[in-house]
Amino acid sequence: MPRPIEIAPSILPVDFAKLGEEIVALDHAGVDRIQFDVMDGQFVPNLTFGPDVIASVRKHTSLPFEAHLMVLTPDAMAAQYITAGCERLIVHAEACTHLHRTLANIASLGATAAVALNPATPVDAVAHVLDLVDMVLVMTVNPGFGGQSYIATMEPKIRAIRAMIEAAGLTEQVDVEVDGGIGPSTVAGAAAAGANVLVAGSALFRDPEGLVHAVADLRARAEAAAAA
Ligand code: DX5
Repeated sequence: MPRPIEIAPSILPVDFAKLGEEIVALDHAGVDRIQFDVMDGQFVPNLTFGPDVIASVRKHTSLPFEAHLMVLTPDAMAAQYITAGCERLIVHAEACTHLHRTLANIASLGATAAVALNPATPVDAVAHVLDLVDMVLVMTVNPGFGGQSYIATMEPKIRAIRAMIEAAGLTEQVDVEVDGGIGPSTVAGAAAAGANVLVAGSALFRDPEGLVHAVADLRARAEAAAAA
């Protein structure tokens, strides 16, 4: 049984002056979880927010929180983001000298672990850690900023990750997430290639018909492509 389609908004485009209200609006719009794009200004050329910002909005929703740690030192930060209320931590393979140990440590802290691959990183980087994760994130942009263009050449990579998961007998345990440039014109390609968790930021907030329509439309397009 393949994993269900899930919509995971990035909060990068929100009005941070009213972050709590924006989280409630996303919840009411029917998203499945919230992704917080954590950036340290070193691993990526942008700086976002620390665990206190996430903790401040935890009370506004019961949706699962995931922290996408685009940081050089995920081991040093993991516990803080779990304490702040994140059920899942996503670390970059490129930032982890000892990826197997980092992922096992996240699980020992009581969260679920996920691993992200930048566009140039080969799928083999996760071949020996699939038993330690509940999700693999295939970046479809180079991380650091919202509003970038989808890199369609990642679709064979998404397919390869999905095949690797299936070959390991982990189809029902491991999600494939994509992040970057996901919107009405790109979501079908990603879903057809095997992605079932779709991170979207700008596409959700720029829909002229509003957030509820944007979430429903993205989900419908993904489900249709996955079923085709
Ligand atoms: C990249 C960011 C973005 C963001 C989504 O580092 O993580 O991918 O989540 O941005 P959009 O949906 O605007 O491309």
